[in-house]
Amino acid sequence: MQDKPLKTVLIVGCGYIGRRVAALLAAENYHVSGVVRSQESAGKLAESGIRAVCVDLDRLLPEMDWGCREADVFYLAPPPPGGEQDLRMRAFLASLPGKVTVRRVVYISTSAVYGDCDGAWITETQPLNPSTSRGHRRLDAEQQLRDWCRVHAAQWIVLRVPGIYGPGKLPLERLRKGTPVLRETDAPFTNRIHADDLAAICVAGMHSPVCNVVYNVSDGHPGNMTDYFFRVADAAGLPRPPEVSREEAQSVLSAGMLSFLNDSRRMDNSKLLDELGIDLRYPGLDAGLESCFKD
Ligand SMILES: NC(=O)c1ccc[n+]([C@@H]2O[C@H](COP(=O)([O-])OP(=O)(O)OC[C@H]3O[C@@H](n4cnc5c(N)ncnc54)[C@H](OP(=O)(O)O)[C@@H]3O)[C@@H](O)[C@H]2O)c1
Repeated sequence: MQDKPLKTVLIVGCGYIGRRVAALLAAENYHVSGVVRSQESAGKLAESGIRAVCVDLDRLLPEMDWGCREADVFYLAPPPPGGEQDLRMRAFLASLPGKVTVRRVVYISTSAVYGDCDGAWITETQPLNPSTSRGHRRLDAEQQLRDWCRVHAAQWIVLRVPGIYGPGKLPLERLRKGTPVLRETDAPFTNRIHADDLAAICVAGMHSPVCNVVYNVSDGHPGNMTDYFFRVADAAGLPRPPEVSREEAQSVLSAGMLSFLNDSRRMDNSKLLDELGIDLRYPGLDAGLESCFKD
């Protein structure tokens, strides 16, 4: 397999981030196909000139034709909602041999694979210790991908991504409803990345001379979840949400939100910046939020 990036790209899970990645690559004359589950999303891709492959990874048939003989792959689809394994990743990888030769896979994983780190700064050498089934599924996906790439002589890049924000991806509905947040003094550290920076990082990962490596993705300025909601509210001109204690949070916040409040860590992004040569457009929340409210 050649070592230069291929001109044919398959974006598996071509949603909010995938469409941004596709736009960056299409501008450089790559042939981009985006895999989505719904006809509605396939329509959106087609409108932007991206070839849509509409298939449900939960029902993937072994004879699936991906429409290309060789490809670089961005795997951006989330794992299924339950269990401790990523059966979508398993089905996708199993569908490739004999049909598509893959040079490299860039995978968006999550920082949830680290579990709770008690607020410590962590690098990629931090032991993996997921505290949620969501984190376990991601760890399973990472492991499957590395094993598959070893057997099939393909390259991989794993991006451990924290909270993504950007235009159209802010918790405005939640703020309008006045859903409470955890009292700021109790709120764990969280990390963020702007969608445009994440898309550029994905592309840099595909082009990098370095491979078979994990990167912590973050804008390098961790904050806490409560401060994030306050700053989004301020930027949107909405009232700040009420604060509740950890005890009260158990009855007023969703299980999904509570699961995010048990892990606290600050992600060191030095390896990402140094090795991939990333120059973040939005290294802080102020400029990042400003970009979300521009026309
Ligand atoms: N949100 C965050 O803060 C955060 C943090 C860390 C990591 N991530 C992960 O980052 C990745 C990219 O995020 P995103 O914002 O671009 O997500 P997104 O907008 O929800 O896009 C996900 C894409 O995957 C497709 N997909 C989902 N299930 C599928 C299935 N069974 N078969 C085929 N396609 C399927 C969806 O297709 P349809 O549109 O047709 O359903 C959609 O195009 C995701 O894996 C996400 O979980 C997110």
